[in-house]
Amino acid sequence: MLRPSQPAPLKLPTLTYRRPQEGRDYWVQDDFLPDALAISQRCYSQTEWQLGAPHRAEPWPGMRSPNALTPDEMAYVEAWVKKVTGAKRLWQESTPEGSTLNHNHVQLVGMDESAARPHTDSRKLCRYACVIYLTPDPDPTCGTSFFRLRYPNGSLGGNICSPPHANLREALGVKALPPDAWQEEIRIENRFNRILLYRGNLVHSATGYFGFEQADRRMTIVFFWMA
Ligand SMILES: [Fe+2]
Repeated sequence: MLRPSQPAPLKLPTLTYRRPQEGRDYWVQDDFLPDALAISQRCYSQTEWQLGAPHRAEPWPGMRSPNALTPDEMAYVEAWVKKVTGAKRLWQESTPEGSTLNHNHVQLVGMDESAARPHTDSRKLCRYACVIYLTPDPDPTCGTSFFRLRYPNGSLGGNICSPPHANLREALGVKALPPDAWQEEIRIENRFNRILLYRGNLVHSATGYFGFEQADRRMTIVFFWMA
């Protein structure tokens, strides 16, 4: 039974809360890549893919392919990231065990392959995460959302994975929470050639996926930087 007037019991996991603010926690720019349609077509016609969930036991869904953008295109993206964040240097990190994030990968995910999975990106591997939406005629409701904790009594909790924890699993002390433990707070719509950059320690997820054929599934290029 929901009793919204009661405070959250203290033994439930907690996270710091800060309302995500554009220009401080996330950045959006439309009509971003100068040659987006050609890049989109190039990525859609890619034939070499690595399979993720549900086809293989991977934390990421659908399929991916590396080196989505050329070095020149990448330089263009990084110049913008530096400009809006003020970061002087961007780089990719790997853990001592050798794990990395799939930086500059094109990701293609169909409606039947996954759903929203709120998470944070490892603080050891990424400070900023970024996505460029490259489906020419996307379902606008399938962009990216930011979430905050929602307790069984209906009260709302935090949205940030803070030190010393690297990820939500560490911060919450559980492997995963059910989908209704998260409240969607802000949704960035999917629009062709829109770039969304955000702090990877904010709880986030793709809002949803669309398309069933390779040619119309939700396509993005994803990036992860330390700064
Ligand atoms: Fe993520």
